[in-house]
Amino acid sequence: MAHIPQTMRAFVLHGHGDFDVLKFHDDWPTPNPSVDQVLIKVEACGLNNTDINTRTGWYSKSVTSATTGGAYDGDQDSDGGWDGGIKFPRIQGGDAVGRVVAVGDNVNPSIIGKRVLVDTITRDWDDPANLEKTDYLGSALDGGFADYMVVDHRNANPIETNLTSAELATFAIAYSTAENLLNRAQITSRDTVLIPGASGGVGSALVQLANRRGAKTIAMASEAKHSDVATMNPMAILPRQPENLGKSLIEKTGKGTVSAVIDIVGGDQFSNLINVLERGGRYACSGAIAGPIVELDLRTLYLHDLTFHGCTIFEPKVFPYLVRYIEAGEIKPMLAASFPLEKLHDAQRAFIEKKHTGNIVVTMD
Ligand SMILES: NC(=O)c1ccc[n+]([C@@H]2O[C@H](COP(=O)([O-])OP(=O)(O)OC[C@H]3O[C@@H](n4cnc5c(N)ncnc54)[C@H](OP(=O)(O)O)[C@@H]3O)[C@@H](O)[C@H]2O)c1
Repeated sequence: MAHIPQTMRAFVLHGHGDFDVLKFHDDWPTPNPSVDQVLIKVEACGLNNTDINTRTGWYSKSVTSATTGGAYDGDQDSDGGWDGGIKFPRIQGGDAVGRVVAVGDNVNPSIIGKRVLVDTITRDWDDPANLEKTDYLGSALDGGFADYMVVDHRNANPIETNLTSAELATFAIAYSTAENLLNRAQITSRDTVLIPGASGGVGSALVQLANRRGAKTIAMASEAKHSDVATMNPMAILPRQPENLGKSLIEKTGKGTVSAVIDIVGGDQFSNLINVLERGGRYACSGAIAGPIVELDLRTLYLHDLTFHGCTIFEPKVFPYLVRYIEAGEIKPMLAASFPLEKLHDAQRAFIEKKHTGNIVVTMD
């Protein structure tokens, strides 16, 4: 039986604001698993914009600009989290990987000792497909920026792979979000998919998972990241924001339209993205890092028979599929850098700078 200390190291969010509200503690109480939970000794935890956006209160309707990483004016207490208000103190970190060291009374102890990839979406496991009964680890419940965390045993997915825990910590949120986007937009091998933000966590997952389905992928990314993006084998790579998107598409692919845009960027290039969708095209969105308020000409939507999908909560089956793709080596991690837990501020500063391709993680040892 592993020795479990009564206190642990943890980065704890104490309110909305700048980095000063995210504080390191080396004497935070170690959680105890309840009857349906497992206790995980965390080995690595990936970074996400949700951590930044929740700290700054970006999800609040009072904020209309792009994600910056700094505090915003006004009061975000009632709606600063991704699903409403956040209860503080809160340990963030939704992308955890670690080993199960103890279980609650209702959990089969054979999982003890196994390395697990944590599914971030919390559910009512008697009604798991009900979107209204879901939430997010690191927002509604404590996450993985700590030595230990507890989750329902159905969120702890044992995984067999030679990948390091740091590499594994790049997958959960980005790839489940990406697979959900592709499912909702019903992407198949007949599609040509345009992917803005293809150098980021979700974007690099989208390129790989859409390729996996046999779709033709067109990645959009900053010039400096094109060689990294090329390692994921998109059919074509375009600049982050081409002057004339239709013309750039023709130059690279011979055709000025696509059947689907899978977007996590939004902002002022939104209408350009919509304008290159062919008749009957699909637009699916899970993020708006360049800005949430966009301009839409409704005539483009209805005259071209477009379909829009807003996507956050994925079906419960997505996560087990993801684990299988990883175990089979069908998707690869894009680990840009890892920092020790104590350096979470530095890790997040690097993450906000966006000079990296893929994702950044913190490790616990
Ligand atoms: N709904 C959900 O469940 C869910 C899940 C995960 C993420 N998200 C959201 O999706 C968005 C992307 O997430 P991610 O993890 O892929 O982020 P990320 O790793 O930070 O990547 C975002 C990419 O967007 C590109 N980009 C284009 N315009 C930008 C701008 N104005 N500012 C910053 N970056 C810009 C950057 O690439 P270039 O420099 O190459 O252009 C960057 O690599 C975020 O808003 C995040 O909150 C939502």
